[in-house]
Amino acid sequence: MKTNRNYPTNSQQLQRLLILYWALGSFAISAVVALMSIIPLYNQLKKQEERNLQFAVHTRTMTVEQFLSRAKDIAEQITSRTKGRQQLEQYNQGRIGMSEVAAFGTQLLTDAMKRTEDIAGITRLDGAGAVVARVGLPIPTELLLVPPIASFEALVSHPIELQSESYLVVGAPIINPTSLQRVGTDILLFKITGLQRIITDYTGLGETGETIIGAVNNNEVQLFFPLRNQVRASASMLGAIEKTVASGEAQLVKVSTGSEETAIVATEPIKNSNWAVAIEIDRRELYAPVNRQLVIVGMAIVFMILLGTGGVVLLLRPLADRAIVHMDELEEKNQEKIQEVTNLLAEKTVALEELKQAQTQLVQNDKMAALGQLIAGVAHEINNPTSFIYGNIDPATEYADDLIELIKLYAQHYPQPHPEIESAAARMDLEFLLADFPKLLASMKVGADRIKEIVQSLRNFSRLDEAEMKQVDVHEGIDSTLMILESRLKEKPDRPRIEIIKEYSKLPLVPCYPGQLNQVFMNILVNAIDAIDELNHQELSQPSKILISTSLGESDRVAIKIKDNGPGIPEIVQNSLFEPFFTTKPVGKGTGLGLSISYQIIVDRHGGQLRCVSSPDAGTEFVIEIPQGS
Ligand SMILES: Nc1ncnc2c1ncn2[C@@H]1O[C@H](COP(=O)(O)OP(=O)(O)OP(=O)(O)O)[C@@H](O)[C@H]1O
Ligand SMILES: [Mg+2]
Repeated sequence: MKTNRNYPTNSQQLQRLLILYWALGSFAISAVVALMSIIPLYNQLKKQEERNLQFAVHTRTMTVEQFLSRAKDIAEQITSRTKGRQQLEQYNQGRIGMSEVAAFGTQLLTDAMKRTEDIAGITRLDGAGAVVARVGLPIPTELLLVPPIASFEALVSHPIELQSESYLVVGAPIINPTSLQRVGTDILLFKITGLQRIITDYTGLGETGETIIGAVNNNEVQLFFPLRNQVRASASMLGAIEKTVASGEAQLVKVSTGSEETAIVATEPIKNSNWAVAIEIDRRELYAPVNRQLVIVGMAIVFMILLGTGGVVLLLRPLADRAIVHMDELEEKNQEKIQEVTNLLAEKTVALEELKQAQTQLVQNDKMAALGQLIAGVAHEINNPTSFIYGNIDPATEYADDLIELIKLYAQHYPQPHPEIESAAARMDLEFLLADFPKLLASMKVGADRIKEIVQSLRNFSRLDEAEMKQVDVHEGIDSTLMILESRLKEKPDRPRIEIIKEYSKLPLVPCYPGQLNQVFMNILVNAIDAIDELNHQELSQPSKILISTSLGESDRVAIKIKDNGPGIPEIVQNSLFEPFFTTKPVGKGTGLGLSISYQIIVDRHGGQLRCVSSPDAGTEFVIEIPQGS
């Protein structure tokens, strides 16, 4: 059984792959989710920055509005002083003189100037617009801002420059509250260093932020103060101010050159005026905090994802380990089962093969046994009558010799026989008869001898019933087999007689099953004859022959070699020779069992060897070796 540390490399690879895919998967999913949530966050943060910008414009606008209303308030406070107004009314009506109204006016204006530092000078005009009193910095005549006669409101001019200082001119009408008549006008010169301080306060606007305040007159924008970084205000900034004044509403304009957004402009109008405040800032600078925040958030998310993925990997490892160990065990069990089944199948196949062989052998044995019995029966039946003939031939020859001798004696002693005897002797050609009769008997004896030999061979061959091992003369077995095959050796119309050449050595008796051994000789010899029959004999110069040689070989083995000069066996066929049912002969002619049974008999039953030596066109030799001491 394998341990955790010891499972096969492919399992380790599998585990690594599993964890890798899992980690990559969870990383990808987390990354997508993070990206999906970071984009709205990014937009939100950008909006926030834009709102901040608008708020910065708004606070400046409010301060400017406060400044303006304070200037107007101060002016109104001065104009609303009753004593001064009455003096002016009396002067307008000619009831008091110029010196009187001037003295009082100067006194009043000086007091007013003392009360606030923002005023640089005041000029008082009478109802006809002529100067009656003047304190502080004198205001040039062309800058004296007189509100229209119907207007009760103070008027504020654009910033002007006097002795290289910037001022606002506020023209406040002096009104009689009961008659609502214009009595005169006070023109105040307001220092705008305070306003400029407010506008040019760049805190929170980074390095590129520009704040301006301007007024629109006849479609032209007039800026009040110089810019911080730029010499001229950008066209988009001026456009934004124009639009703001025209619409009276705050604007947020995104400026772009080409396809790239470069700057953001926020504007807001100043109430009751043609003025507007604008802030322009470089886009990158405006959004820099957003980007910084995003980088931090992104890093945090990546860190979290990595942490999460790491956690997943850590969690998954032991699980994958266990799963893989389990898988390995399963696979091992599977392998064992497969092995078992394979073994079983192999056993079954072997058993089937053995069964088949046993069956074929039984059939063959049966056939041989039947043949043996038949032969044994025939031999027995022929043996009896042949014995009569054979047993009587010798006495018959003796009797014939005696009778011939007697006839010869008669002829010698009675040279003149009776004419009847003489004619009978002539008729039967006695002289020839006497000469031929012994020859005839002798040839009969030869015939009887032959019959006896055949019967003996038949009996030899049919020793199938002898199931036990016997000490056998191998040559006798070969000879009796040849005897049975005699008819197949004979001359045929398409070929001469097959010549059998025997080269027998002196052999001891060999322990074996004689019937089975004869069966082997029979199979091999029949194959040899079949092979020779196959040849086209007209073209052959050599006569067909089978050489049978015996010898006592190594380790006292008896070797029997049966060699024919037939067509030989091709090499591919040689490998299958001893397989059951292998045959090259036409259907019905060969069963393909001859050699397989012979092999079994020699190798399995006798512990010997059977092999074939053959090359095409050089004939075939089968070598049988039987141990002598088995
Ligand atoms: N002496 C030989 N010369 C050439 N071929 C041979 C010789 N002996 C055997 N063979 C080849 O070996 C094959 C197998 O022989 P085997 O005796 O086993 O079967 P078979 O002769 O075909 O059939 P069966 O003997 O059962 O009638 C033969 O078909 C033949 O091709
Ligand atoms: Mg055969």
